[in-house]
Amino acid sequence: KMIYYVTPTYPRPEQVPELTRLAHTLMHVPRIHWIIADDQPLCSEMVLNILRRTNLPFTHISSPKPFLYKGTNFPRGVSNRRAALAWLQENVSEGILYFGDDDNTVDLELFDEIRNTKKVSMFPVGLIGGYGVSSPVVKNGKVAGFFDSWPGSRTFPVDMAGFAVNIEFLKPSATMPYIAGHEEDKFLVSLDLKMEDIEPLADNCTKILVWHTKTAKYKKPTVKIDLKQFDGQPKFQNF
Ligand code: UGA
Ligand code: MN
Repeated sequence: KMIYYVTPTYPRPEQVPELTRLAHTLMHVPRIHWIIADDQPLCSEMVLNILRRTNLPFTHISSPKPFLYKGTNFPRGVSNRRAALAWLQENVSEGILYFGDDDNTVDLELFDEIRNTKKVSMFPVGLIGGYGVSSPVVKNGKVAGFFDSWPGSRTFPVDMAGFAVNIEFLKPSATMPYIAGHEEDKFLVSLDLKMEDIEPLADNCTKILVWHTKTAKYKKPTVKIDLKQFDGQPKFQNF
């Protein structure tokens, strides 16, 4: 089965390094199709160049967030993930869907684990919230509950990177809401997922194979650049 790795992304100084690192992970994975969903009115040339150099099968689509979402606590990557979902529903009838943010860190073993997902599989994600890990709780080989520092009255308190979905299990009703913190839960609810359908992976959820890493934001220092000293402003193709 093919794995469809859906990555929302947006322009910022850290974008190229994040995507370069992720590209170099995905290049080690057999039978993977990378869907990059750009939070921009047009697909970025810089992002496309990274995709091309991977030699992986890919889809590059763009769908910018609605203008009203600004500030800090807005739902991230929803419009673009929705576009990826619509593309999958239109063009793909089998395979595995996985939402992998552009700044996450993934162990190659995760791909072997999720490839056999029947309906929805789940597994721990490292570096989440106050507990440091978000994970299903497994009893007798079945998911019995969730270990997550922010239950948030969610039916499935999991991170976006904590589950994979068999595309045959996607419903036409599958969608993601513009509600910060509830994107993954409401998406899973829209699939009409039942607790007993969840397949725990990673040795009954005892191994962490993906991390919610975050890169420190580059802050422009307040120094004046003496352009004369550098013989004019240097231009970079990918910054
Ligand atoms: C966490 C989860 O990992 C996300 O999947 C979830 O959408 C998000 O929380 C949320 O609940 O809003 P976090 O690490 O806090 O994400 O946020 P970012 O890594 O900044 O953004 C998540 C993804 O959306 C990234 O792939 C990022 O590139 C993308 N994004 C972010 C956009 O496409 N547009 C933006 O304006 C911001
Ligand atoms: Mn992130």
